[in-house]
Amino acid sequence: MRSHYCGKVDESLLDQEVTVCGWVNRRRDHGGVIFVDLRDREGLLQVVFDPDRAEVFETAERLRSEFVIRVRGRVRRRPEGTTNDKLPTGQVEVLGLELEVLNKAETPPFHQDEHDVGEDLRLKYRYVDMRREHMQRKLKLRAQVTSAMRRHLDEQGFLDVETPMLTRATPEGARDYVVPSRTHPGQFFALPQSPQLFKQLLMMSGVDRYYQIVRCFRDEDLRADRQPEFTQLDMEMSFMSEEQIMELVEGLIRSLFKDVMGVELENPFPRMPYAEAMRRFGSDKPDLRIPLELVDVADLVADAEFKVFSGPAADKNGRVAALRLPKGGELTRKEIDGYTEFVGRYGAKGLAYIKVNDPSQGREGLQSPILKFLSDEAVAGILERTAAEAGDLIFFGADKATVVNDALGALRVKLGKDRGLVADGWRPLWVVDFPMFEYDEGDKRWYSLHHPFTAPRVENAEALKSAKPEELISRAYDMVLNGSEIGGGSVRIHDTEMQSAVFDYLGISEEEAEEKFGFLLEALKYGCPPHGGIAFGLDRLVMLMAGADSIREVIAFPKTQTAACLLTDAPGTVDNKQLRDLGIRLRKTVQDGEAKE
Ligand code: AMO
Ligand code: AMP
Repeated sequence: MRSHYCGKVDESLLDQEVTVCGWVNRRRDHGGVIFVDLRDREGLLQVVFDPDRAEVFETAERLRSEFVIRVRGRVRRRPEGTTNDKLPTGQVEVLGLELEVLNKAETPPFHQDEHDVGEDLRLKYRYVDMRREHMQRKLKLRAQVTSAMRRHLDEQGFLDVETPMLTRATPEGARDYVVPSRTHPGQFFALPQSPQLFKQLLMMSGVDRYYQIVRCFRDEDLRADRQPEFTQLDMEMSFMSEEQIMELVEGLIRSLFKDVMGVELENPFPRMPYAEAMRRFGSDKPDLRIPLELVDVADLVADAEFKVFSGPAADKNGRVAALRLPKGGELTRKEIDGYTEFVGRYGAKGLAYIKVNDPSQGREGLQSPILKFLSDEAVAGILERTAAEAGDLIFFGADKATVVNDALGALRVKLGKDRGLVADGWRPLWVVDFPMFEYDEGDKRWYSLHHPFTAPRVENAEALKSAKPEELISRAYDMVLNGSEIGGGSVRIHDTEMQSAVFDYLGISEEEAEEKFGFLLEALKYGCPPHGGIAFGLDRLVMLMAGADSIREVIAFPKTQTAACLLTDAPGTVDNKQLRDLGIRLRKTVQDGEAKE
């Protein structure tokens, strides 16, 4: 149908005839001449229709935005003064000799060049949205990324193996999406939260190096960087230490950035123990582009009259930390109130602060509602430890350590963005030495920080059983890039006894372990190689590379915050016959569309 993409017609084709197809981006009538900006995947091209060719001109007069057309014409130089240096096709135009309307279009719900289109409208008419240049760019970037990944991994001897979508629950910390079975009434498949168990079984199958670009399903609270179905680059390797695994996947990410973006990432990536990341940044995914850091001051305020500080300072699960904001003295009262409200969302009960006018004058040079509660030694210690300078502001968080870390960790990032302190560039980081388990006060039990198949850093099951759960460190690693967790993995348990001992810590009984993971425990008995791996969040990675704010921007057909698809209107109801076949009857409240419980 066509000889060239619109976006590829340039001066090299001057005086030649081309046939192009695409959508009418805009039609402009100028003094008896009609200009059409014709658009396809590769870009825009100016087509001119003049009244000399009456029939063609008449058709051109009827063109509207988003009509799909085919044009045969001659490439010519644009008249002086009408060139557009921003477009690759901006030096030329096509004089239309023949015009065919391939399809008409109703007026679209929004115009291609409109900026502030609500996201719901964009998602409902995603096919119109994706015609836009910035969306095409993101789709292409994503395809380049997966293609570079495949190339690199194929070269390294990885096998692409598919794993089932209809399967059993894989615990990755979210709720499962379940699928009823017609052939086994009353029984359900779970969609995989990840291919974790299958990729381990592939190592037991002798595959040695596996990868898959695979869809994962997690029914969890959604945010800008989470989707209910998302894509992982999933990998697993046999007979490799965590050092070797980390080196290999680091090489993959480095080559990816070089191939796709022309960016040289650090070599090697820095590594930081989990405990240090929490202490300095209040986060296990610190954004190293932001120069602000948390500083512990509990010892300095332990004796203060101020209960807000002395309480957490005396609590073994508490934390009192300071965060110095250079030039923060400029903040208005209203801005400080705004930040106080912001940390409140993370559970902080307040946000104490000290304005540092002149640190050399000690207490006299400071301004703060809490100053009166602090001793001279405490004040001097805080100024010294935070290295405060004239004009700075010091924020404080005091509470359970988890609350302080969440609140000040998030405040650090917000201040970094609000105050223009985020440095340019790419700051990758490995976070290592994760605790094996974390305690949930509500449920009164231990949970795996990664997943229950991650190996602890102990010799054998005996050593595991005699250790305190809070002191155990796992052989897990996360890759963090500019404050986003882009990947996580670990060396796995390859020994039945060790796996059972871990289930034991997690309060999973032998019967339950047998019921849920019997196949894995059995497989471990028949010759399981030492193995480990990692999974990258492809959507998150592409989002960062594209400079987008949300992973929805780099997914062709994403779901909304309530896990619905506005385009197809999924999820939807099914008819009674289908339910009957599945042996399912809905509760009355659900039928009426009311609350589910
Ligand atoms: P994990 O649960 O850490 O590990 O997931 C790996 C990576 O997947 C991305 N990710 C998500 N992206 C978008 N939406 C979501 N809801 C979502 N959840 C996770 C993150 C994350 O780093 N089986 C293990 C990997 C392993 O041990 O090899 C796993 O799934 O970028
Ligand atoms: P109050 O004694 O509640 O008036 O608080 C005095 C100052 O301490 C105010 O600036 C509060 O915002 C702050 N504040 C209260 N609770 C906390 C907390 N848990 N962490 C940090 N600052 C707090």
